[in-house]
Amino acid sequence: MPTPSNPLKAVRGTRDLLPPETALWNRVESIARSVFSRYGFGEIRTPIFEDTQLFARGVGEETDIVSKEMYTWLDGERFSVGKLMGAWESRPDADLPLTRHAGAGLIVYFREGTLECVGFRAKADAQAIQWMRQVVSSYAQKDQATNVRGKLVVPVGMGRLPEAFSVPAGIVVEEMAGNYFESSQSLTLRPENTAGVVRAYIEHNLGDSGQFQKLFYIGPQFRRERPQRGRYRQFWQIGAEVLGPVTSGSESPLRDAEVLEMLATLLDELGVKNWQLALNSVGSAEDRKRYVAILRDALAPIKHQLCPDNQRRAETNPLRVLDSKEPNDQALIDGLPKIADYLDESSREHFSQVLAALDACGVPYTVNPRLVRGLDYYTRTTFEFTVPSSADPASGLGTQNALLGGGRYDGLSEMLGGPRAPGIGFAIGEDRLILTLQAQAAADAAAKAGVPHSSQSHRDEWEAPKLDAYIAPLGPERNAAALALARELRRAGLSVEVGDGAFRLKKSFEAADRVARHIVILGEDEARSGILTVKTFASGEQKKIEQPALVTQLRI
Ligand code: HAM
Repeated sequence: MPTPSNPLKAVRGTRDLLPPETALWNRVESIARSVFSRYGFGEIRTPIFEDTQLFARGVGEETDIVSKEMYTWLDGERFSVGKLMGAWESRPDADLPLTRHAGAGLIVYFREGTLECVGFRAKADAQAIQWMRQVVSSYAQKDQATNVRGKLVVPVGMGRLPEAFSVPAGIVVEEMAGNYFESSQSLTLRPENTAGVVRAYIEHNLGDSGQFQKLFYIGPQFRRERPQRGRYRQFWQIGAEVLGPVTSGSESPLRDAEVLEMLATLLDELGVKNWQLALNSVGSAEDRKRYVAILRDALAPIKHQLCPDNQRRAETNPLRVLDSKEPNDQALIDGLPKIADYLDESSREHFSQVLAALDACGVPYTVNPRLVRGLDYYTRTTFEFTVPSSADPASGLGTQNALLGGGRYDGLSEMLGGPRAPGIGFAIGEDRLILTLQAQAAADAAAKAGVPHSSQSHRDEWEAPKLDAYIAPLGPERNAAALALARELRRAGLSVEVGDGAFRLKKSFEAADRVARHIVILGEDEARSGILTVKTFASGEQKKIEQPALVTQLRI
């Protein structure tokens, strides 16, 4: 039981984002939106939970994300209108009418001038009856049938209407025995958004346009990871995907380079300093299969020297060993065969064209042959952007120094049952981006002031901009006039806070100084004369201003 000494708290690994910090989040998101729109991306918003199968198939059963980090539950039983309709039509005593047509949850029978509309619903509530009434009246008008009847069919036990409710004439409710519910469905809070975007691409036939789609998203993702600085169980991603039919050019190395160049522009516009781009090619699905077999063989004789986690990975998913940050294993991992040596000619050519386009744009990068990334859908180009790691506190990220990651996923659409639709995309960890910006701002401020900088003080160094004015009514009887003045100023576009007439003047000044650039005093004299006293905190200057000139003065 929560008590005043032990109140409820946000769940471990989740956190509240509060002002003034949220102003920085909004700034970051608006810069991202502006860059995305210049590169022709439109926003997509997919559901926060999806069928578990989507991630199992898309991200991969053997990945850390799917095997141990997902929030998955069985959702309750769902009513199946199809099952109820099927049972109705095949009931043993069905006397089959001459003509019929069926639609979603409705079958209409015609027989000798009589028209019977049979609707199917989970229960007979007021909404269902109202719907039946509309159906009956629209058929009566449309077909000018002399005799139109309505029947609402519901599962047994679901036909009882509230006592006060009477079923209109011409409509009857009938219950059908049997189970018309589908067994429960396994659902998962999305751990990432690429699988959801590709599912939506398939579901809405977005490939039919013949063009590639450029889609971006900003939203929360969920992974049950061990929380630490820069790693949360609910975290935010800003991501984008480019995908489409092969004929649209979605497979072209130009798309890869454009996405990477856009990211370089975005990080520069956000003011992220010292970012580094690492990229690699993991080749086609066939290249990878060949390489994994070679890697498995190479790992077999040295496996016992690796940490337990890497020993397990060597068995289940050898590529993951390359990702390992375990310090004691690094020398052995560096000695393993490199995927670059096992790419086929077309993957090699694709990668070299990506690099050539980056060179042409002047985007700096390093090729990291160990960058295979932790999701199974990647093919060809994979990449990460990092900021200097824990050695430099200005990164703000400690060991979680991957600001964003992404790559190509040419087979993902087919893995999800869709048409061929090669694609490439990325997701920025927004929490990490914000930590980085805060840390950099703190380091800059400390450098300017000539004091050593502590990585713990980042949060305090980000201050929201001050409001234009604080209105201080003198006495409770001035409160109403203060609110009316605030309304006028806010309508003119100013940001305004209103104090309380019960405050002493000293308290009003203190409150105003904390949140606003100016204080406007509203006492009896001011109300009578229309001349207001305004103090500007930065200069300490106090002035009498006529009300019409107030807006101009407060903008200063
Ligand atoms: P990811 O590498 O799993 O890729 O995640 C992308 C970024 O999300 C990471 O680089 C990191 O900044 C951030 N992130 C991941 N987990 C956490 C966490 N627990 N707490 C805070 N931030 C985190 C993907 O999600 C792919 N869907 C990216 C992609 C898009 N690939 C192609 N298209």
